[in-house]
Amino acid sequence: MVLEGKTALITGGSSGIGLAAARALLDSGARVAITGRSTERLEKAAVELGGDVLPIDADVTSLTDLANMRTKLESAFGSLDIVFANAGVAMGTPLATTDEATYHKIMDANVKGVFFTVQAVLPLLQDGASIILNTSWLNQIGAPGRAILSASKAAVRSFARTMSAELLERRIRVNAVSPGSIETPIHQGRGQTEEEFRAYAERVGAQVPVGRMGRPEEIADAVLFLASAASSYMLGAEMVIDGGRSEL
Ligand SMILES: NC(=O)c1ccc[n+]([C@@H]2O[C@H](COP(=O)([O-])OP(=O)(O)OC[C@H]3O[C@@H](n4cnc5c(N)ncnc54)[C@H](OP(=O)(O)O)[C@@H]3O)[C@@H](O)[C@H]2O)c1
Repeated sequence: MVLEGKTALITGGSSGIGLAAARALLDSGARVAITGRSTERLEKAAVELGGDVLPIDADVTSLTDLANMRTKLESAFGSLDIVFANAGVAMGTPLATTDEATYHKIMDANVKGVFFTVQAVLPLLQDGASIILNTSWLNQIGAPGRAILSASKAAVRSFARTMSAELLERRIRVNAVSPGSIETPIHQGRGQTEEEFRAYAERVGAQVPVGRMGRPEEIADAVLFLASAASSYMLGAEMVIDGGRSEL
């Protein structure tokens, strides 16, 4: 119970990596708030998680929602020790055909959303708090058709450095997790059957040195490490958890 008595916010905590991180933090003794846009998904996740979880409807692209989120966190928790700015979207953006609306959809959720999430909760953060940002292995490679997603995640990687420098006086550490291809609903296109998804997961897994896609729990373990005092000498850093894909 390394996080006993701590409070945590996880944006996009209703699914995939955020949901797995919520479970890991709860199991380690923290009180956890999760956010998302869909009330239905949030409520389902809260039931699944049980325990001391606070679901908050908030779209990270809306500053009004983020201000309301802060008010709810303040009345429920008083202050925050851990923030996992995880909410994000992913979609292909071929150079020749991507429209402006898609550009804004990705940049608003992945870049603006992370920046203003941290800004919104700054007054609630305890000195010595830990902020974890969710970037992607794509932030450092040139994957065709992924220009905007990769650039958005490179911005998030950069935030870990600049925010950490800016919050140094308050001993607030900002680090990033950098997942490879992880089996979550983000990969499931509309109308895809389970069989089609399995075939997709096998194709992607074959491109990874360890031979499979990652599991959300494998990212959650890194989040737990970065949230806890075990990572006290790490700041501005990135933990790449990608089955060796960007290294081998
Ligand atoms: N899975 C991967 O392979 C992979 C790899 C690298 C990085 N990542 C990053 O990991 C993060 C989590 O992704 P995931 O794979 O766990 O996907 P996921 O299962 O689709 O979960 C995304 C979560 O974010 C929430 N969300 C999306 N847009 C939001 C918004 N504007 N405001 C608030 N919440 C929002 C979703 O809930 P609602 O839809 O209800 O809002 C959901 O809870 C993302 O930032 C993603 O880019 C994933």
